[in-house]
Amino acid sequence: MSMAPVIAIDGPSGVGKGTVTQALARELGWHRLDSGALYRAVALAAVSRNVALDDEQALVDVAATLDVVFDEHEAGRERIVLDGEEVTTRIRQERTGDAASKVAVWPGVRRALVERQHEFRQPPGLIADGRDMGTVIFPDANLKIFLTASPDARAQRRHGQLAEQGRHAILADLCLEIEGRDRRDQTRAVAPLVPAEDAVTIDTTQLSPDAVMAEVHGLLKARGLR
Ligand code: DC
Repeated sequence: MSMAPVIAIDGPSGVGKGTVTQALARELGWHRLDSGALYRAVALAAVSRNVALDDEQALVDVAATLDVVFDEHEAGRERIVLDGEEVTTRIRQERTGDAASKVAVWPGVRRALVERQHEFRQPPGLIADGRDMGTVIFPDANLKIFLTASPDARAQRRHGQLAEQGRHAILADLCLEIEGRDRRDQTRAVAPLVPAEDAVTIDTTQLSPDAVMAEVHGLLKARGLR
């Protein structure tokens, strides 16, 4: 059986992975996997089930029984429902991201989510975003892109996104949080955040979203993906 093609988009938070992934999924008409949302959902479910973020076995049970639905209810607008409750806003909060990074260090939790991620690979193709899409989950991806940007640039972007939602954050605090989460994601024993050997790295620090997409389109063309 020939497998549907996959484009892996990896990198730390705030580099524009979500924007690139959504744009590509729309342009190509392919499916999308937001793997970070799975780890975020495990973290939220753990909190509501009173499971400690360092109790690996209990977290594995949470991951294995995760009832999360990604529901594209209108073009580009996604609703996320966890255990029957809408968590679309809560799942994007900084503290959920931080908790997700803590549950993601446990090998058993990562293992429990592998098959669920593979199930997203359906024709005509999949754009998968995360930390280990190209290294662990889809090592045979047709194209692997690793996005980076300076912690400062990422904190500025996050600050802007929060301001758009009418929320104020202190830039220096965001920068510290980003650096802390990077360190945890990069140094964990299993599936750490590193570019795959055959990934193409794009530093988005100085690039507009359009300029990033132009580079991505060039790569797609070179691989015969469009
Ligand atoms: O991409 P994100 O900010 O939604 O991810 C939240 C956390 O989940 C991230 O800090 C680490 C973890 N994660 C992971 O370990 N592996 C992935 N493929 C995606 C996310």
